[in-house]
Amino acid sequence: MSSPEYVAVTLHLAKKLKEASPKQYMAVFHVMSAGQRDCLKRSSSQPQTRSSWSWNDPSFVKLPISSQNTIRVVDLEKKDRVVVVHPKWEIIQEHLTNIQCSFCLAPDIKHVEYGKLMKKTISKYQFAKARGYNFQLLDDPGIAEKLKVCLPFIVKHALDLETRLAKPIPILESGRSQTLLLSRNLCCSLLANAFFCTFPEESRGNLPDFNFFRLFHKVENDARSIVKVEKLKCILEYFCQMRDSNHDKNTVISFERRCVTEHVQWKESNAKLCPVVVKRKSGIEDAEGMLQVDFANKVIGGGVLNDGAVMEEIRFVTSPELIVARLFTEPLNHQEVLVVTGTRKFSSYSGYSAAFQFGGPCPLETRNIDDLGREVTQVVAMDAYPFHECNKWEQYSQEMIDRELHKCFVAFRKAKGNPQAVATGNWGCGAFNGDPELKFLIQWMAASEVKRSRMFYHTCFNDKQSKELKDINEFLIQTEVTVGKLYRCLLSYKEGGKVKSRSRIPIFPYIKDRIVLGALFANK
Ligand code: AR6
Repeated sequence: MSSPEYVAVTLHLAKKLKEASPKQYMAVFHVMSAGQRDCLKRSSSQPQTRSSWSWNDPSFVKLPISSQNTIRVVDLEKKDRVVVVHPKWEIIQEHLTNIQCSFCLAPDIKHVEYGKLMKKTISKYQFAKARGYNFQLLDDPGIAEKLKVCLPFIVKHALDLETRLAKPIPILESGRSQTLLLSRNLCCSLLANAFFCTFPEESRGNLPDFNFFRLFHKVENDARSIVKVEKLKCILEYFCQMRDSNHDKNTVISFERRCVTEHVQWKESNAKLCPVVVKRKSGIEDAEGMLQVDFANKVIGGGVLNDGAVMEEIRFVTSPELIVARLFTEPLNHQEVLVVTGTRKFSSYSGYSAAFQFGGPCPLETRNIDDLGREVTQVVAMDAYPFHECNKWEQYSQEMIDRELHKCFVAFRKAKGNPQAVATGNWGCGAFNGDPELKFLIQWMAASEVKRSRMFYHTCFNDKQSKELKDINEFLIQTEVTVGKLYRCLLSYKEGGKVKSRSRIPIFPYIKDRIVLGALFANK
């Protein structure tokens, strides 16, 4: 029996399947090691009949294993050098197996020029694309050291893709709520293929890139190449740990695209504000058991496969299973978020942006598994609206406040009875130029509206901000301000907060004044 390792369903249906037929559910996700062929044997086996894996259906991802993924090659054995159409996957298998064999034959091999090796290999099946990249970052000593340990493992997992997939992978399309459940092992196979750049480059529509080409490319005298090396170390650490750890690789990771079109009547909301805990020291990624916010780009992962190294990119390279979302997630629209449940953090890090550095492996912890077989860590990718110097005043308009409130509302909505806290911070306030005071209030209102138990707000060692947040939190809780009232106050800020055309008083003192004045007038 083959071992299908993913299913695309709604979470509701997955739960039903799990309850009604636990065995069938496990069969869907269980990796049957007996069914995995040795990749060395595979290379000598007869080519098999392969399906097209819905190649021509735009609702599915184009996969390297599809029979329609072909390449035109010159048959040198024929006298007149005929051009023949050949399945690319067979070429990929052949060349990856060659790497595998060379490592098996000479395990003590000291010096391999990995950049050259990868370029040579990948050029065999991605000729045009590979020409544009130099692969030189793979020769960095820190990278080479890790590759020596885990390259054969990456090859094996890349080749195992065809035994791990039972059906084509649907695209999480814009405008539609849909969930994909993938086993941890399948995620590893997909990432291994991205590492060897085997995914067809053509016709990805508006899906982000997934092959790792750009991560390997060194730009002379460009400091950002150093960041890419650090990011590669994180990703290779993931492969090393997947190779070595005894952890259950059959656990499930779910990717839920959530689209909510009905809007809250914020003005009328009587919801009470939920408690806020200000965290000065730790990062969002350390908030175990909570819904952790990813300060996302609408293109999921942002610059993770290039030289980006701010919050989202760091989150993705330290938890590379999140990168898998790029394979099938179309850009998010205003009413959408992506909730990923069950990923693990493999690397720690230090520094930020240009100073980002791989900080060694994360200790592997045993986590609770939920009723769908997922570890409990939940990350929600939500993209703030990007402002620039020229339009940053627009963020105080009702249209923009409503846009951000709705995004948070969709992200923070929870399954019935799950009071899990939200872990967030200055969402949209770095690369996207938002006002941290406004974004704090917006996130707080949304978390309160959906009745999250608490909001943990991370300030990254900012003492001044931590103090101001504690003050406003205390004030608004004491004065029993509702979400509706706070919303009405915020709407008045665009005009009321203006001192001169280009300067304004900060939001927190403005809100305080409004509430105090409102109370005074109410008492008269
Ligand atoms: N925990 C808590 N707070 C953090 C953390 C962390 N781990 N890391 C950073 N911050 P930014 P944005 C704080 O600029 O403005 C990416 O390229 C820190 O104070 O990453 O929403 C995406 O792909 C920082 O200034 O988020 C998008 O393209 C602030 O969070 C774009 O950036 C904002 O971090 C999103 O930009």
